Amino acid sequence: MTTSLVTGGAGFLGSHLCDALLAKGHRVICVDNLETGTLENIAHLRGERFVHLNLDIIEPYHVEEPVDYVYHFASPASPIDYLRIPLHTLKVGSYGTHHTLGLAKRHRARFLTASTSEVYGDPQVHPQPESYWGHVNPIGPRGVYDEAKRFSEALTMAYHRQQGVDTAIVRIFNTYGPRMRPHDGRAIPTFLRQALQGQPLTVFGDGSQTRSFCYVDDLIRGIILLAESGCHEPVNIGNPNEFTLLELAQVIIELTGSRSEIVFAELPVDDPQVRQPDISKARELLGWEPAVALREGLERTLAGAGHERLTGRSA
Ligand SMILES: NC(=O)c1ccc[n+]([C@@H]2O[C@H](COP(=O)([O-])OP(=O)(O)OC[C@H]3O[C@@H](n4cnc5c(N)ncnc54)[C@H](O)[C@@H]3O)[C@@H](O)[C@H]2O)c1
Repeated sequence: MTTSLVTGGAGFLGSHLCDALLAKGHRVICVDNLETGTLENIAHLRGERFVHLNLDIIEPYHVEEPVDYVYHFASPASPIDYLRIPLHTLKVGSYGTHHTLGLAKRHRARFLTASTSEVYGDPQVHPQPESYWGHVNPIGPRGVYDEAKRFSEALTMAYHRQQGVDTAIVRIFNTYGPRMRPHDGRAIPTFLRQALQGQPLTVFGDGSQTRSFCYVDDLIRGIILLAESGCHEPVNIGNPNEFTLLELAQVIIELTGSRSEIVFAELPVDDPQVRQPDISKARELLGWEPAVALREGLERTLAGAGHERLTGRSA
């Protein structure tokens, strides 16, 4: 039986990845210290092919049984988390990635790390191809996340080049779906929570900054295709359909039938103005492209998460 180890498997994306790997018939070892994830995300996965190890990957860790794939997803991902625990974020991207690459090396496993569109910073090239080196402020508050991920990519390539580890890097663009936390500060869960509670939707700046939002099922499908390919270079996975934050707020008000109004708040420091993946490489190498449009994905999120989880309280 194929065994996959998923660090960060109790988080938003990691738990969806565990679902998909179990559905493929894999045995899944979820390594997660619940820093930002929850047992609720994996409660439905208990069974003989699934195990959760409560380990902090900043410390060295070992798994005795054979492992075929290592998916490295552990890291705070939401600004609200990495601004609260900046040192943890840097350590998980450095020590955590080092320990997890070491584990993959010992097991001769294929290793895939979850990198991010944040490696492009506030981009001066649009849309962003993998060949773009980025425009990151290393000493700004967001630098702890962006630089942790850039270091993590450098470490991954060094293990590949010097140690022969079979590695892959996915650069994930904004993703949404059920199990996002209502208070994690990212646009979609925040707007959904505010709309469902009848509170004003807070749009930063004038709302003209753009993001491209990928539904979680599309992302996970692309990640598994990448893991099963022989590719070692970074690959963007995201939805290239771009929306302004103001458009997103309007669609969410319409879909939820909310009577909330839109209010404007100060733009966070170093907030990127635009963000759109160039997915030519994913199309070419993996035959992948997203299939779920924003409206449909938002409807699935509303249906899949339920009012209680989206608002953080009972209906
Ligand atoms: N969600 C997105 O849109 C997005 C975009 C780009 C990249 N990513 C990347 O994908 C990965 C998962 O993101 P997410 O949105 O699911 O975040 P998340 O916060 O929901 O999940 C991260 C998980 O990692 C675990 N974790 C953190 N530190 C740990 C440690 N030291 N030891 C063990 N476990 C630890 C947390 O408990 C949590 O379950 C992250 O690496 C993130 O950088 C996510």
